[in-house]
Amino acid sequence: MRMLSHSLKGSLGILLSLTLLEAAQIPFQAHKHSAIPDLEGDDNNWDISRAPNENATGHLVFETVNSFMQHWPNTRYRNAHLWNGLGHSIVPGVVPPGTVLYHGRGDANTPSSPEWLATDPEHSYMFCRGQTADSGCWQLTVTAIRPLKVLYFDGSSAAKMQDGSMDSQDIIAYGKVVPEKFWSERERIKNLCDWGNSDFEIDGFVRMEMDFEIMLCDFNEGVLVEPVNLRARHRSGRWPGGPGRGPPGPGRHLEHLDRSSFDQSFNGNTTALPSSGFDAFHSGTWHRYYPGDTRIQLDLTRLVSFYDTELVPSLVPERYGKERIKHRLLGISPKDLQAVVRKIEELSAVSNPGSGVDWATLIRLIVKRYSERLEMVQYMLNSTYAGNSASQNKVLAENVQAQLVAMLQPYLLSIIKPSQDPTSTEWVSPMYKLCATTYTNYITTSSLHSRLTSSEYLILDGIHETTKEICRVVTGMWVDGIMAGLEPDYHKPAIIEGGNNVDLKSLLDSWKERVYGLMKWLDWSVWLKCRPACGFEEMCYLPMWPFRQGSNESDDPQPGCVRRMASLDGQGS
Ligand SMILES: *[C@@H]1O[C@H](CO)[C@@H](O)[C@H](O)[C@H]1NC(C)=O
Ligand SMILES: *[C@@H]1O[C@H](CO)[C@@H](O)[C@H](O)[C@H]1NC(C)=O
Ligand SMILES: *[C@@H]1O[C@H](CO)[C@@H](O)[C@H](O)[C@H]1NC(C)=O
Ligand SMILES: *[C@@H]1O[C@H](CO)[C@@H](O)[C@H](O)[C@H]1NC(C)=O
Repeated sequence: MRMLSHSLKGSLGILLSLTLLEAAQIPFQAHKHSAIPDLEGDDNNWDISRAPNENATGHLVFETVNSFMQHWPNTRYRNAHLWNGLGHSIVPGVVPPGTVLYHGRGDANTPSSPEWLATDPEHSYMFCRGQTADSGCWQLTVTAIRPLKVLYFDGSSAAKMQDGSMDSQDIIAYGKVVPEKFWSERERIKNLCDWGNSDFEIDGFVRMEMDFEIMLCDFNEGVLVEPVNLRARHRSGRWPGGPGRGPPGPGRHLEHLDRSSFDQSFNGNTTALPSSGFDAFHSGTWHRYYPGDTRIQLDLTRLVSFYDTELVPSLVPERYGKERIKHRLLGISPKDLQAVVRKIEELSAVSNPGSGVDWATLIRLIVKRYSERLEMVQYMLNSTYAGNSASQNKVLAENVQAQLVAMLQPYLLSIIKPSQDPTSTEWVSPMYKLCATTYTNYITTSSLHSRLTSSEYLILDGIHETTKEICRVVTGMWVDGIMAGLEPDYHKPAIIEGGNNVDLKSLLDSWKERVYGLMKWLDWSVWLKCRPACGFEEMCYLPMWPFRQGSNESDDPQPGCVRRMASLDGQGS
């Protein structure tokens, strides 16, 4: 992989003032054209045989937005660079007044320099320390007394790993990707706060590791700080991480972590999680799924994404032909890097009400409507049918067809009729189009369109590209079911008019390939789960920093069950 030789550091100042000058003079202008059509070519082609461009990223933007502030998907795609979107985005947000946050430390003092806040006390307690065993330990309760302006880096952006989890924040902190600085947390927080304080009045930065954290720049601004002296817990394991911590000192490094015992317990052996650190891991799991941790309220009208192929064209060839888990921001051109920083600065300086469309809810709705049914179809087609009889295959095919009909029901126009030519699929174009544009047609064609910010265009494209491909594949499968005679009341193909029991095996094979292909392309995190589901005494666990990170860190981690309590027979305590 190519390393960036160009540093932005020197030019940051010029960049900043230029952007602010522009922002002051020109009203905020959304891009008039969007990212995807460049890659998709013909946005208005309703031929179901036409697959999306292999380099299009709209579906990745879609799943990114669908995963913001949720622990589970951001653990899997932990790197701040993966082309599926997680760790590829930077989003401004607000922490509402009254929100209570936590900071564990060795004394009762209010920090005079930037420090890390945990969103949950389970996490900050790992850093609650005292002078002696009897004097207890200190935890500061830090309450927002006004809206705090924050910037969110998605992915596992607080995981101190070299393979890219910090790429996107380092583009701001250092003006480039610097994998060797993965432990330079003190320097990183200082650089980020210097940048954010200078012109944008940013109070902090949101990241994720075992749980979410906020790097707070000034403990004397916008927050009420109250020290609490807590009972100190005897701890066997030592923790180098936690909210923002680099190695706190000699002798406290990764090796001292309870990691080896964790590895043993996870390694195919369903014993327990380590007692130390478990609570922080546990509080992180509360924010696993949608809507995630809502104490940080993101402003999607100001999202910046490295999947924006118009903003960052240089990453298109960098991603090409690579598995998505291996993609990074390394290889981004200096020009594109400058454009991203400029864009973040522009969006941090200006606020724009945008269109008012609730993008997160719309995306979620689409996931709700299709995820279980696609999973159901996949499950049915995955059942071994090599030895099935023709009549068993018929039942299976009818079951699948019923699911396809359920998905397409709102688009099954009464006017469309199968063509006399069995090879033609043109007759389904009107339903394909209706299905693909149902949620976005008004936004695209009304005056709402002119109120979209450039970030909203990006999200709109993501929704359009994603629904278009779902509708294309599902419609195509449905058509083949019709042509095979699965809905004889609607269409009786010539071949089965004699009433023969046609073996549908080739249809099932072809369906299976298509539904697997679609689900792989969508790669929704709702499908990533422990199979079979874990018992009540267990918890589904995905390898994460600083615990076991997978035998090979470039592997795509898979979840497994771990115990969450000691079992009564004395194992796994
Ligand atoms: C799992 O761990 C327990 C406790 O360490 C051990 O007694 C048991 O043999 C292990 N089982 C397997 C399958 O490795
Ligand atoms: C996708 O991107 C690669 C690398 O830039 C390029 O070689 C390829 O032609 C592109 N594919 C299409 C269909 O545009
Ligand atoms: C498909 O079936 C195989 C064999 O039973 C199983 O291992 C696999 O997990 C199944 N895949 C899905 C997605 O259900
Ligand atoms: C991890 O996988 C990569 C690519 O598959 C390989 O080059 C590397 O040697 C592996 N590392 C280990 C420790 O197995």
